Amino acid sequence: MAAMVKIWDPFVRVFHWSLVASFAVAWLSAEDARALHEWAGYAAGALIGLRLLWGVMGTRYARFRQFVRSPGAIAAYLRDIATGREARYLGHNPAGGLMILALLTTTAAVAATGWMQTTDTYFGVNWVEETHEVLANLMLGLVGLHVLGVLVASLRHRENLVRAMVTGRKRSPRGADIT
Ligand code: HEM
Ligand code: HEM
Repeated sequence: MAAMVKIWDPFVRVFHWSLVASFAVAWLSAEDARALHEWAGYAAGALIGLRLLWGVMGTRYARFRQFVRSPGAIAAYLRDIATGREARYLGHNPAGGLMILALLTTTAAVAATGWMQTTDTYFGVNWVEETHEVLANLMLGLVGLHVLGVLVASLRHRENLVRAMVTGRKRSPRGADIT
């Protein structure tokens, strides 16, 4: 058995799977269970708010500083994937970091445009309804890409990243791995 190290703290893990659950419930209840839909959407929004705080105050691998990289570093990482030379990251890899920002922003925007529809000013306003729906579909697309990225990285580095998001633990670094 390879030695393991703790990477994802309990907050990140509970946050992640709660976000997945609230998105799933909001998606499935969108058409015919309005009250449930709104609660699930607010839960997703609240989770994003907490995650932003944790990205500043949290443990090492939860911090934005640790995984938000420059466009140049992201492009270089994508080129390395194309040529099969990308390094293994103990935390989020540069492309994953960008995806996380995209997912956090889109989720916040979906929740915000959902809430707007409950206000006197924007109730029944067409562009708000449409923006809400377009953003929700965009989010579904991003989630698809996100899961694909997780599967590719899991195969390339022969480790189960989904399990790591449950247990918090990953294989200890060796060689050129980036800690
Ligand atoms: C609604 C759907 C989803 C959303 C919004 C979402 C969002 C996120 C976010 C924000 C992170 C960053 C975690 C953090 O540092 O806080 C993350 C990481 C991660 N997610 Fe998801 N996720 C979703 C679905 C899934 C699914 C279905 C899987 C598994 C098949 C998955 C597997 C992972 C893994 C393994 C990581 C860690 C990636 C790494 O090793 O760098 N996610 N996800
Ligand atoms: C992750 C969060 C959310 C997701 C993924 C989401 C997704 C969706 C989707 C896909 C629809 C279109 C349903 C249809 O086909 O008619 C919809 C409609 C709607 N959502 Fe959300 N939503 C979220 C959060 C919220 C929140 C927080 C609220 C309000 C508190 C909300 C209020 C509404 C309302 C009022 C509609 C109906 C708009 C209309 O009449 O066309 N949503 N949502």
